[in-house]
Amino acid sequence: MIYLNGDFLPIEEARVPVLDRGFIFGDGVYEVIPVYSRKPFRLAEHLLRLQHSLDGIRLQNPHSNGEWSGMLEQVIAGNEGDDQYLYLHITRGVARRDHAFPKGATPTVFIMSNPLLAPPSGLLATGVAAITASDNRWLRCDIKAISLLPNVLLRQMAIDAGAMETVLLREGFMTEGAASNIFVVKDGVLLAPPKNHLMLPGITYDVVLELAAAEKIPCEVREISEYEVRTAQELLLTSSTKEIMPITRLDDKPVGDGKPGTMFALLHRLYQSYKQTTMRGAPSIS
Ligand code: PDD
Repeated sequence: MIYLNGDFLPIEEARVPVLDRGFIFGDGVYEVIPVYSRKPFRLAEHLLRLQHSLDGIRLQNPHSNGEWSGMLEQVIAGNEGDDQYLYLHITRGVARRDHAFPKGATPTVFIMSNPLLAPPSGLLATGVAAITASDNRWLRCDIKAISLLPNVLLRQMAIDAGAMETVLLREGFMTEGAASNIFVVKDGVLLAPPKNHLMLPGITYDVVLELAAAEKIPCEVREISEYEVRTAQELLLTSSTKEIMPITRLDDKPVGDGKPGTMFALLHRLYQSYKQTTMRGAPSIS
């Protein structure tokens, strides 16, 4: 069951007019929110980032946080499985095709849920392969825009090379992955690129940095050079749907000793126990 513009209905019955600006221009923003044990994870943070994205495209938020939370709750309840991920999508609405903002259009609001599958333990044991590519996206990567063509092409480069993710480099520095944030481990220190207009401020990224601070893991948030990526002891990717995963091959060369490292093992364990504690404490949604 999905939500579309005020209605809850089966996805097969959901229809959007072809003149929707999401379809015509990719003029909209989205969020992906993990749900564990039927409770949204870090909902307040996701709604705050949604507001940042809406402000970035100058679109008024069509709902209050209370309304969002009620709608998400109903979508969770209408879908099977305790662990799900919510996809929430807002466009500038339906209007005659003209680049300029339409006057008086009503935003299109769509929410769906999919099963959230933890990364297979086999992949966590071996790690995954990644490639590098030049980051050719626009300069507002902090907006979670639905216009994802560069990300789609960059991620497909990885798939075509038999890898899982593409690590993006811009002017000699690492920004993020095509659909994830990237951490580097160097001399036992966890390195994270600073949140700015060149990357999406990941919710999982924040959790990882908070856990590292709480455990007193040496950590630096600063620009990371291509050289540091290529000579890393460990590389980690994070996202709402993949949590934390080790990258053990980069451009067909082993990362460190080519096996998931101790920083990955520690952060993965901390993340799992954090998830369990916060979900136990979170208000129940069913
Ligand atoms: N993508 N950077 C990019 C470009 C992303 O697309 C994502 C997540 C992230 C990680 O952000 P978070 O930890 O908040 O999920 C970073 C989602 C999962 C997607 O588009 O499906």
